[in-house]
Amino acid sequence: MINRRNALTLGAVGGVGLALPTESLMDFAFGPSWTVEPFTRALPIPQVLRPSATRIDTDVYRLTVGEGTAEIVPGVRTNVLTYNGQFPGPTILARQGRTAKVVVTNTLASATAVHLHGGNVPADSDGHPMHVIEPGRSRTYTYPNIQRAGTLWYHDHAHHLEAEQVYRGLSGLYLIEDARPTHRLPSGAHDIPLLLRDADISRDGELQWAVFGQANRSLVLVNGAAQPRLAVRRRRYRLRLVNGANERTFRLKLSNGAEFVQVGSDGGLLPRPVRRSEITLWPAERADVVVEFSGAADGSQIFLENIDGESDASRRILRFDVAGGPESDGSSVPATLAPAPIPKPPTVTRKVELSFDALAGTFLINGKAYDPERVDFTVKRGTTELWEITNLDTQFEIPHSLHLHLIQFRVLDRDGIPAAEWEAYPKDTVAVPPGTTVRILATFDSPYTGIYPFHCHFIDHSSTAMMAQIKIEP
Ligand code: C2O
Ligand code: CU
Ligand code: CU
Repeated sequence: MINRRNALTLGAVGGVGLALPTESLMDFAFGPSWTVEPFTRALPIPQVLRPSATRIDTDVYRLTVGEGTAEIVPGVRTNVLTYNGQFPGPTILARQGRTAKVVVTNTLASATAVHLHGGNVPADSDGHPMHVIEPGRSRTYTYPNIQRAGTLWYHDHAHHLEAEQVYRGLSGLYLIEDARPTHRLPSGAHDIPLLLRDADISRDGELQWAVFGQANRSLVLVNGAAQPRLAVRRRRYRLRLVNGANERTFRLKLSNGAEFVQVGSDGGLLPRPVRRSEITLWPAERADVVVEFSGAADGSQIFLENIDGESDASRRILRFDVAGGPESDGSSVPATLAPAPIPKPPTVTRKVELSFDALAGTFLINGKAYDPERVDFTVKRGTTELWEITNLDTQFEIPHSLHLHLIQFRVLDRDGIPAAEWEAYPKDTVAVPPGTTVRILATFDSPYTGIYPFHCHFIDHSSTAMMAQIKIEP
């Protein structure tokens, strides 16, 4: 394997290269520290976790949080954090209406908390930053799955630790299946999760962590592997795109110009499918898409491209190798999917201002740093609120997003321009580019009350201070 940074360093002997002070500067100047031999490895599919017990209406799962290693770059073992020894964690396949109890044991030397992102769950199972599992302890989370089927994910949420711990590996997928599916979207082996993220890996194969270190995280991973390939047949596939990166935004397209048919957003199916040639995902956003390979030539190669990638390793992130078929394909994309609830008029309007305090070097919500003891907004259960979310930062142009725990909301408009169909509902995370105002309509239709966080999902921002919380009262 050729190590580009090594080569460059050697080439610079006697020159100015020796004077460069840090590895990270080298990274910044020269892009990825690893040159991966691309598309040599099959796309890993995270294992589906088997319940350790199954009762009439409940499945019990066990997750152990611990250290481990992963082969991110072919032939190199990298130290990572894992759920059940896996990077990313195993997939939990939940069924609508059946409760999942997840017993998590922490074998790390640091605290952890597990948050089910997108989940409608009781406050004591939400993975609040202060409800941590101390080293050596366990905690049971109860997820009732009383929500629409969809692509959720779980990740670390321990106060001040989540950005580093998610980066080091603490995330996994949580898929809720329809109790009675009313569609025949591709399923089983033709329903493929693609958990996207990035990483900075040093010459000795170690994950490099620095908060706000986005500029160095130049290697994009799909399900934990850099530049994998996936053999596909000439038929329809459902791809569940999840942005699990700390800070990277993906702008995705297919190299053959084929369209994605988007069928789902953050919290489940859209009202109807939307054809898109390009899909942008900010951190924590999801897009459920159907891709048609039946028109592709046998033996052809199609790349999933990240248009904004700064190097080959972050631009061509997955290769589809088309072989076999056309297969008899019983799947279809219906003209209507899942209707959105009828919007209710808001009874409360709130302003949420996202800002950067350059002097203190911190990110703030409504001028304040996160205080887990403070309630920022008190909300009455069942009511609908209009939130006007503004990213005030026009000086440094730092992007922010807003994520609400517990509910799925409706995006109304951005600077007065109505949200596109695929962004309207169901959403739990919304992009708020610098200098813009996004309005969302949030109906607190969960049966649960208590304290839930909301925060920017550029997780390096939220784990420092860009978080606040609501208290939902009965
Ligand atoms: Cu995925 Cu509180 O976040
Ligand atoms: Cu969340
Ligand atoms: Cu932010």
